[in-house]
Amino acid sequence: MPADRGSLPPVLISQEQIDRRVDELAAQISRDYADAGELVLVGVLKGAFIFLADLSRRLTVERRIEFIALSSYRDGAVSGAVRLLMDLRTPVQGRHVLIVEDIVDSAHTLEYLVDMLQARGPASLRCCALVRKQKAPEAQVDVDYLGFEIPDRWVVGYGLDYRERHRTLPYIGLLEG
Ligand code: IMP
Ligand code: MG
Repeated sequence: MPADRGSLPPVLISQEQIDRRVDELAAQISRDYADAGELVLVGVLKGAFIFLADLSRRLTVERRIEFIALSSYRDGAVSGAVRLLMDLRTPVQGRHVLIVEDIVDSAHTLEYLVDMLQARGPASLRCCALVRKQKAPEAQVDVDYLGFEIPDRWVVGYGLDYRERHRTLPYIGLLEG
């Protein structure tokens, strides 16, 4: 147990709020894919690993878990070009695919991923993100399943980090300073 609990980031979205929302998203996704056959969940590493773990265990549809790793930020700084670090290990052609992202900020990562996977000919392709930062209306992107809209601030916890810190906080907190 870290001694200095006073240094923990202030809560933006509590554990209870996350828990309820993940339940709702899982129910909605389970309804939408009830007759679709196997759903391929593509978790975006590293940030989505906790959300994907919780979401996937609450689905009632047949599913398989895959991971992809992309890099778009250098050390928590500004958004830049997206790079593929680790590809899927399975073809998605003809399959129903749901991208599971932790957070949508500039949406560069999501756009890159959607273009890349769409080119592989899936039966369907949708996106689920736990949080999306509120941006100017012209910079908004559509997310099929969205947990929360948040202010345009750096957040940590529930998989999200700042320079690899705070990833395993059980809630989503605001990075101060
Ligand atoms: P985008 O390409 O600008 O939408 O950024 C998406 C990626 O940047 C996310 O998948 C995260 O890994 C990272 N990111 C963006 N904003 C935050 C944040 O507030 N906290 C932690 N990671 C973030
Ligand atoms: Mg990410």
